[in-house]
Amino acid sequence: MAIHFCLGVTLLLSMWATAKCDVPNEAINMECHDRFFVIAVDLAFTGNEPHFEAVDESGVYPITRHRAAQCGYSIGVLPLLGHVELRASYFSCHTENNDDKVFTFNFNLVVANEGKIVSYALSKTCSPSLPWSPREVTCEVNYMEVSVNSEVTCPSETKKEDWNAALKSAYTSATSDWQVMLHGGEEQGMPMNLSEAHKRGYLFDLTDSRLVLRAQYGQPESFSTEVNGVPVEGVHATLFSRQGWVVLMVDLVAACSMHEGSYNDSGYMMWDTPEALHPLMTSQHEAQVKIGVNGELVEEPVAEERGYIVKKQNTIIQISIPYNAEGAIRKSLVSGDLFEFYIFDLYLEQMLFGEDQMDTRLRAHRTLATPLLPRSLFSENRTVPEERVFTVYIGNVPEDVELAAVNLNGQKCNAPFSNESSLTITKVIQPNHNHGYTLKVSMFDPVIRQKFSKEDATMQQTLEINYTLTVLPENEPFYHLASVMAFTDVSPPVFDALCTESGISFKLDHRPFDYLWEITIDSDLLTSELADQHGYIMSNDSNSLLLEVPLLSQGYQYEGFNLKEVIGTFKILIRDPKTSEVQSSSIKTCSFTTTELVVCSTDGRMTVVADLALAIPNGGNPARTNLRDKYCGPKETDGSRALFSFSLNSCGSTVKLGKEYVTYENEIFYSKKLRALKNPADPSNDIDRVMIQCTYPLSGLFRLFSVYKFESDKAGFGRIVHSAHSTEGLLSPTMEPTTVFQTPVYTTRRSRRPVSMRPGYQPPVKYIKVSSFLRNLPKKGAKGQLQIKLNPFISL
Ligand SMILES: *[C@@H]1O[C@H](CO)[C@@H](O)[C@H](O)[C@H]1NC(C)=O
Ligand SMILES: *[C@@H]1O[C@H](CO)[C@@H](O)[C@H](O)[C@H]1NC(C)=O
Ligand SMILES: *[C@@H]1O[C@H](CO)[C@@H](O)[C@H](O)[C@H]1NC(C)=O
Ligand SMILES: *[C@@H]1O[C@H](CO)[C@@H](O)[C@H](O)[C@H]1NC(C)=O
Ligand SMILES: *[C@@H]1O[C@H](CO)[C@@H](O)[C@H](O)[C@H]1NC(C)=O
Ligand SMILES: *[C@@H]1O[C@H](CO)[C@@H](O)[C@H](O)[C@H]1NC(C)=O
Repeated sequence: MAIHFCLGVTLLLSMWATAKCDVPNEAINMECHDRFFVIAVDLAFTGNEPHFEAVDESGVYPITRHRAAQCGYSIGVLPLLGHVELRASYFSCHTENNDDKVFTFNFNLVVANEGKIVSYALSKTCSPSLPWSPREVTCEVNYMEVSVNSEVTCPSETKKEDWNAALKSAYTSATSDWQVMLHGGEEQGMPMNLSEAHKRGYLFDLTDSRLVLRAQYGQPESFSTEVNGVPVEGVHATLFSRQGWVVLMVDLVAACSMHEGSYNDSGYMMWDTPEALHPLMTSQHEAQVKIGVNGELVEEPVAEERGYIVKKQNTIIQISIPYNAEGAIRKSLVSGDLFEFYIFDLYLEQMLFGEDQMDTRLRAHRTLATPLLPRSLFSENRTVPEERVFTVYIGNVPEDVELAAVNLNGQKCNAPFSNESSLTITKVIQPNHNHGYTLKVSMFDPVIRQKFSKEDATMQQTLEINYTLTVLPENEPFYHLASVMAFTDVSPPVFDALCTESGISFKLDHRPFDYLWEITIDSDLLTSELADQHGYIMSNDSNSLLLEVPLLSQGYQYEGFNLKEVIGTFKILIRDPKTSEVQSSSIKTCSFTTTELVVCSTDGRMTVVADLALAIPNGGNPARTNLRDKYCGPKETDGSRALFSFSLNSCGSTVKLGKEYVTYENEIFYSKKLRALKNPADPSNDIDRVMIQCTYPLSGLFRLFSVYKFESDKAGFGRIVHSAHSTEGLLSPTMEPTTVFQTPVYTTRRSRRPVSMRPGYQPPVKYIKVSSFLRNLPKKGAKGQLQIKLNPFISL
């Protein structure tokens, strides 16, 4: 006998144009479990509101919420898992049941696809391997179901009054049809026929060998009790039929723990169920409990490994599951700070052992959720000071959280992070589905806050990070703060200096904080313009600064003049840019050998080393030379050279005054007598005339003709004019000294600074920097020895 009461609704589906096609394999998963079908469909495929329709030979039945509870279907949309799940009991209304052994579920999946409703016809057949127990109770999320073996209908024990009441009714009932009496409401229930019971939400079915009752929770006729503090809901129906003088009577009872689950401070989700849920559902010996997740029980060792605990306390079975046990689903949530919760789809079997092998198998599905648990991220200072890079790690970031932006000292950088600046951010995958991010930023990046302390020669560098992280998929942001600080020892830069043949070479390796100082020569800031003006050769790249200072270029100080050497000192000053205070200096003193030089000092002295090889006869002694004033002889001589040092206004010097310059001139003679013997008109006369000159710009002179004191703010510009060397450099016989001092710049530029001029050279406006000449002069005889033909502004 089959009882079907689920056929009442006729459906008008013809309004929808439906196309039947195949669901892609990867979008659907249909499984056979012990007691139900599981159909899981990808939400990406179904959209958010998929519908199912059960199909049997009598028609198509949309699985609505109400029908689901009555007919044995449970539908759950699980966005966290990305699918919708339909569980259908093997005894569900429209499942084809073949001898309680083979079950076929035909259904339609109805989804909206680009505005059109599309229906997919699907089918699944299962033959559960687990044999049916005499009594099977299912506590689904939305209904209770009990099925009993219809061949064994002798209840072992029941409440006497219930039984008697049912019996009485059976006898008084005029009909042989099945009647049902529901126990549990306030009053003793009246017997009703099955269609009446169905109207009230109770579904009875008789399969080949089993009698099934299903009801949703919260029915008026269901009973609710508490067993040692654990709420229990159940339904108890007595089904009877009078056939002649025999009354057939079956007790159907299903009872489920309604415990909502709890969470304890040690991180366990707990769920309680009484050992005996109802007087008709007790066990002769200890109930056996198995637990699992997502509709699948696991064996004891697996359960143990996952940390599931089953305890019996005071007739209550307590199940404890670590909140993050395998099978739990976790989700992040922002509520000011970051929180998370875990959901666990508990599946449980409780075996109750009755007399005469009248065993009861109870299967329960319960969804347990933890409260919102604070989830804290941590940040760690992983800076290695020597690297001069701040390294900060932010960890314990859950899977569904992503770094969206970082704010460094108020400056925002959004994802995706490129490695353009000195900032790099690297994602680090950690076990347990966590990850972290390593942020690196140079301590000298402009974004770093720096505080310089002169007293301790340290720089305090601070980086405050405000991380913006977002929870996916909602993109809800929250913030995490970290701050790191470093102290770096900083000292003014120090140049490496090296004496070369032609000058002094300075080298400075750049450090990131060298901008704290400025480099000056005397009081002038070192720039490439200044270097050009003074005749220094400067090259500067990102690694180092190279400055070559040729001897006699501006800025040298000299001492110890003699014929063998001149000792030159060059000084680079490191100043505080704000106060211009000198913080340190790099000083180098080198000794140079020279053939000739003229130094015109600011205090009015001319110092000359002159090569007289051509000015004296063979075998002549340079010691016998003198200036125009014959009493002015050399201070020092060697085989061919003589050193003179005299006041500009003495020794018979002549003064020639131009518009802007004044030139003091003298001459070195070997012997006036010898000179007189020679015919000056004779072109073969190769006796060299050696003119020596110092030219000063008038603007720089304080006292011009004072006998007592000469004072110039600039050193003079000196020269030795050898008549014999007429082809060399400036020493042209056609160039009169007056011409030279009147317009020295013009003359020398036009006539003496030809093609070899360095590009970008800017000649000074007022007077010639001799250093520039030096470089461009033809270097006759400059083999390995510095030959100074012209002479710079030298202050002694
Ligand atoms: C069941 O009982 C209701 C009311 O008690 C009655 O109206 C209905 O006709 C009965 N149905 C059958 C099939 O006996
Ligand atoms: C939480 O439950 C577990 C497992 O039952 C137990 O070991 C632990 O002691 C409980 N912690 C607290 C604080 O109750
Ligand atoms: C940035 O640099 C890190 C480490 O060098 C590297 O792993 C990452 O791939 C780089 N990212 C980009 C966008 O170049
Ligand atoms: C971090 O950044 C967010 C967004 O820019 C801001 O609302 C928040 O106040 C910042 N936190 C701190 C401490 O600066
Ligand atoms: C971070 O690490 C660096 C290097 O180990 C250290 O100098 C600094 O004091 C640490 N702490 C903070 C808060 O930055
Ligand atoms: C040299 O170059 C660096 C950058 O590479 C710059 O910071 C510095 O000011 C330069 N120095 C001079 C003297 O030009």
